[in-house]
Amino acid sequence: MAEPLDSRCITAALPRATRSWMKSLEVLEHVDSTNAYIMRAARAGSIDGLVVTAEFQTAGRGRRGRSWAGDPGRNVAVSIGHAVDLPLTKIGGLSLVVGLAVADVLDCLGVEGVGLKWPNDIMLGEAKLGGVLIELLGDAPPAQVIVGIGLNVELDERTRAAIGAPVAALADLGLQVDRNALIAALIARVHEFTTAFESSGFERFQPLWESLNVHAGRRVEVLNGDMRVSGRSLGVTATGELRIETDVGEVTFNAGEVSLRAVEARAS
Ligand code: BTN
Repeated sequence: MAEPLDSRCITAALPRATRSWMKSLEVLEHVDSTNAYIMRAARAGSIDGLVVTAEFQTAGRGRRGRSWAGDPGRNVAVSIGHAVDLPLTKIGGLSLVVGLAVADVLDCLGVEGVGLKWPNDIMLGEAKLGGVLIELLGDAPPAQVIVGIGLNVELDERTRAAIGAPVAALADLGLQVDRNALIAALIARVHEFTTAFESSGFERFQPLWESLNVHAGRRVEVLNGDMRVSGRSLGVTATGELRIETDVGEVTFNAGEVSLRAVEARAS
């Protein structure tokens, strides 16, 4: 059994700059969704500096309306509220930058082979180790951004079977992770990377993102609503859009779901 989450341990592990930015840290036994919790807190004012984590989410949310599953007391689910002083039209790349922050934390922990699947799935080879759900509130600057991060620390067989897609957990690598230290590192790195994005945009992060792109140069299929486009992944633009080389030229996407399995299944 992993050690319990503890707000004092998390706070003590934060660098001073993050500690002075963070307004509150809630550690909950259970909650519907940590993102939804921050969304409700927004009714009382700015969410900047609000952080919430929970041992268990009863209705964890994933991207594109999916659910997010985890076992009680054995994973990481954390949401961080940020006020980002940019118009919504300029916020797109932030979602990729958060993926980079998570990958950087895992790299520092000694996790080898972490990659990113556009826009921000955290991958270990072809298996998903974690995910990021960014939700935006309001439409005028500063954008109120909820950054939700889920990481698989340990997953039991039943949960893996229920997820029904290739998943990985840090425990699969033989890593015993201190979840409090991991959460502190995530809060600090997300704050640091978000602040850098706010002042200079995605462009400076682009080479790093390209270096972690698990689909670089591979044939993929992108699903966006009813649209299904096949082609070769060319990486991302300077603003974080996905670039796909198709038979009729290059197409860029700012939303959608990238799949490799569908293309490889048809090719074999
Ligand atoms: C994805 O679909 O890949 C995104 C998953 C994001 C899950 C995290 S767990 C913490 C936060 N609260 C939620 O309800 N979702 C995010």
